[in-house]
Amino acid sequence: MWLPQLPLLLLVQSLLPLLLERPAFAEASGGAGGQLRRIRLQDHCTAGICTGIDIGRNDYVIISPTAITMQSMLTFINSSIAKIPHLMFDTFPDLQMLRMENCSLDTFEKPQFEGASNLMSLFLGNNRLKEIPKNIFLGADNLATLHLNHNLIRALHNHSFHPLKELKELSLAYNQLEQLPLGVFGLLRKLLDLNLAGNRLSVLPRGIFDKNLNLTRLSLASNRFTVFESELLKLQPRLSLLDISGNILNELTLNFSLLEQVLAHSCDLRRLTVYGIIRDLDLHNNSLRELPHIPLASNVTGLDLSLNPLGNLPGNPLRRYTALLRLNLSATNMHELAEDLFKKQSQLQVLDISANSLYSLKITIFDSLKALQYFYFQQNNWNCDFLQLLMSSFVKKRDISFMEDITAPELVDDYVDGIACWYESDKTSKRCDGSNSEAALELSIVRNEIKAFTELVEKKFVRVYRMLEEMKARL
Ligand SMILES: *[C@@H]1O[C@H](CO)[C@@H](O)[C@H](O)[C@H]1NC(C)=O
Ligand SMILES: *[C@@H]1O[C@H](CO)[C@@H](O)[C@H](O)[C@H]1NC(C)=O
Ligand SMILES: *[C@@H]1O[C@H](CO)[C@@H](O)[C@H](O)[C@H]1NC(C)=O
Ligand SMILES: *[C@@H]1O[C@H](CO)[C@@H](O)[C@H](O)[C@H]1NC(C)=O
Ligand SMILES: *[C@@H]1O[C@H](CO)[C@@H](O)[C@H](O)[C@H]1NC(C)=O
Ligand SMILES: *[C@@H]1O[C@H](CO)[C@@H](O)[C@H](O)[C@H]1NC(C)=O
Ligand SMILES: *[C@@H]1O[C@H](CO)[C@@H](O)[C@H](O)[C@H]1NC(C)=O
Ligand SMILES: *[C@@H]1O[C@H](CO)[C@@H](O)[C@H](O)[C@H]1NC(C)=O
Repeated sequence: MWLPQLPLLLLVQSLLPLLLERPAFAEASGGAGGQLRRIRLQDHCTAGICTGIDIGRNDYVIISPTAITMQSMLTFINSSIAKIPHLMFDTFPDLQMLRMENCSLDTFEKPQFEGASNLMSLFLGNNRLKEIPKNIFLGADNLATLHLNHNLIRALHNHSFHPLKELKELSLAYNQLEQLPLGVFGLLRKLLDLNLAGNRLSVLPRGIFDKNLNLTRLSLASNRFTVFESELLKLQPRLSLLDISGNILNELTLNFSLLEQVLAHSCDLRRLTVYGIIRDLDLHNNSLRELPHIPLASNVTGLDLSLNPLGNLPGNPLRRYTALLRLNLSATNMHELAEDLFKKQSQLQVLDISANSLYSLKITIFDSLKALQYFYFQQNNWNCDFLQLLMSSFVKKRDISFMEDITAPELVDDYVDGIACWYESDKTSKRCDGSNSEAALELSIVRNEIKAFTELVEKKFVRVYRMLEEMKARL
């Protein structure tokens, strides 16, 4: 039992004063005759989980005439609740966490959070809220976590988050915000984690974070920024995670003293310059043809460059990345690799060179990779003899984990431990030292072309077949 047994919920004598006290009732019902409803929460809730509750916009709900103490968490699921019931926090004075996600919540009423001084976490994601009225959170003085993600919020006021002085985590992700007023985060001095991803922001007012000196994690991903200025965050010494992925940035310069993690994938980046220390950099799915320019490359431990048109990486560009632990070069248009490419990566633990057009390598390229534990090299054009050598003299010998080819490529000659490979057409030049003959390269290119061609033919064939079926059906 999560609630003490309560007396019959609504007694006439307790209803009258409530109605008299709250002239807002008539207003809340929009003058259109909202319903007065009793909802006996005990009937819907067990162990803090409430299901199947239906509250319309105009309903006036009375949960209980007396306070229900000792209830610290409430989660509503499979419910349709247009608004948080009046007196929610008077009824549950001990409530610390309220989860009301996916409830079709579409409006706030004033005063909404009176008596909510114990509330620490409020989750209102996946609802239909359109605005956050000024001072709506009055009463929730101790709120530390507020999630408003996946709503329909278009605008905020300077005072939308007054007086949330204790707020540490705020998510406004996946709303429809186009701009933010300068003072909107001004009172949130303790804010650590701010998520603004998935909105329509293209600029932020200069100084918008100037009061949030302890900001540690910030996501601006999937907005409409075309420039990003590190200046915005020059007062935040603790900033450790920055996500600006999914904006179209083309050229980007980051200047921070130390960031643990930067995500800037899917930005169509052509050029990236990083001043200061960044440990983990996710740059997958950009348009980089060269490695980022990072004077302090020796402090980078994780680098994801997958899905960039880097090509063969000539000129030993990894030589200053001496502390790398994880490196992803999957799908980067590599045909061949220089023998000394990984010479300085003696600490590297995870290396991904999958989904390229590699045919053969000098086996000595792996000599320096003393710490490697995971090596992904599937989805290439490996020569079967080289692949055998790679397996026996490196991967198996050192007990390194790898991944098999899952989807069978077209025209495979053979598999070595689950990885597809092709024999050289010219048997006389069957050598395993990685001499990357022009012929082998040409062969792999032709192979890819044939593959693309067969896929196309297959698609067309499927279409013709469907048309035939349709004609047959019509006859
Ligand atoms: C919520 O609804 C879903 C689908 O209607 C159902 O599968 C699930 O069991 C329900 N959960 C509870 C706790 O009633
Ligand atoms: C709410 O619904 C969304 C979308 O259907 C789902 O992804 C999410 O997990 C749900 N959240 C909760 C707490 O039920
Ligand atoms: C919002 O707050 C900022 C900074 O606190 C202030 O400069 C600005 O005038 C305020 N705007 C409004 C409309 O109150
Ligand atoms: C920032 O964090 C530090 C360390 O946690 C704390 O001492 C300080 O009071 C915080 N500043 C604010 C404005 O909350
Ligand atoms: C980086 O920022 C620091 C401090 O804000 C500044 O002094 C320095 O000139 C900046 N460096 C570059 C190359 O912009
Ligand atoms: C790559 O980025 C584009 C936008 O630049 C996006 O549409 C696409 O979904 C992304 N693909 C992957 C695999 O992340
Ligand atoms: C950055 O790298 C240099 C050289 O490898 C090292 O001496 C220094 O301690 C590193 N700094 C940090 C903060 O990790
Ligand atoms: C490397 O990147 C590809 C494409 O972004 C991704 O699918 C793969 O999981 C990554 N590899 C590792 C080891 O994380």
